[in-house]
Amino acid sequence: MKTVKTVEEVRAQVKEWKISGLTVGLVPTMGFLHEGHKSLITRAAAENDRVVVSDFVNPTQFGEGEDLESYPRDIKRDEALCLEAGASLIFHPEVSEMYFPDACTMVDMRGELTAELCGKTRPIHFRGVCTVVSKLFNIVTPDRAYFGQKDAQQLAVIKRMVRDLNFGVEIVGCPIIREADGLAKSSRNTYLDSQERQAALCLSKAVALGKSMAEGGEKNAEKITAAMTALIKEEPLAKIDYVKAVNAETIKPVTEMSGEVLVAMAVYIGKTRLIDNFIFKA
Ligand code: PAF
Repeated sequence: MKTVKTVEEVRAQVKEWKISGLTVGLVPTMGFLHEGHKSLITRAAAENDRVVVSDFVNPTQFGEGEDLESYPRDIKRDEALCLEAGASLIFHPEVSEMYFPDACTMVDMRGELTAELCGKTRPIHFRGVCTVVSKLFNIVTPDRAYFGQKDAQQLAVIKRMVRDLNFGVEIVGCPIIREADGLAKSSRNTYLDSQERQAALCLSKAVALGKSMAEGGEKNAEKITAAMTALIKEEPLAKIDYVKAVNAETIKPVTEMSGEVLVAMAVYIGKTRLIDNFIFKA
């Protein structure tokens, strides 16, 4: 496994693999990898001959006042995890390699898919994600690309973008990986002090509650999100951004638990914004 920093090096390596008839999986990440990323890389390694992991904190998906500067970075640690998980190549570019100073093209998605949920508080986020993921697809030309279900809206947005723009890549969504006590794994968990770490459990507890209500036959989506909201509100360090039930594919709000429903939340624990969700198929 090697780490490269330029588009040219990635293209040369992928070309060599493709000439030999090998399939390529891509795992796009912003680094500071954890068990959640590892599960994506392991799956990609099981389903493809070669795996490229991109490790790039993408500035265009961070809004003003967000954590671009403080986002944790540790390429040495990432390299060790990638090697263990079976990656073949890490693409770790500088910002200047990914974005020309006079770049003026972005991939923007209109409608509810990007306007709802995280799009409300992070209005430019999905434009940055769509742009960098399109660039990575063009650079790596993978057969398959792997994304975590924790970012459920991002997964729905990328699937739609791939459909709309005819990218020749299969998108694979992978399950949420949790700590032993239920907290969904996230690079941002490192921001939490010990009191906040404890408080953050209100997200996974709300997920467990919502899921058990849905599985127990509750059909009213608003009753489910209201019960989850009430549970989170019991935690003094938590401030809710949203707790919502939407169609998992279209991200349109739903009132009934029918079809494939994504029940998603974003909650601030102190200054750290965390997300979690579950999908219920009726
Ligand atoms: O999910 C992430 O880590 C990022 O949004 C992604 C897909 C790597 C794009 O920068």
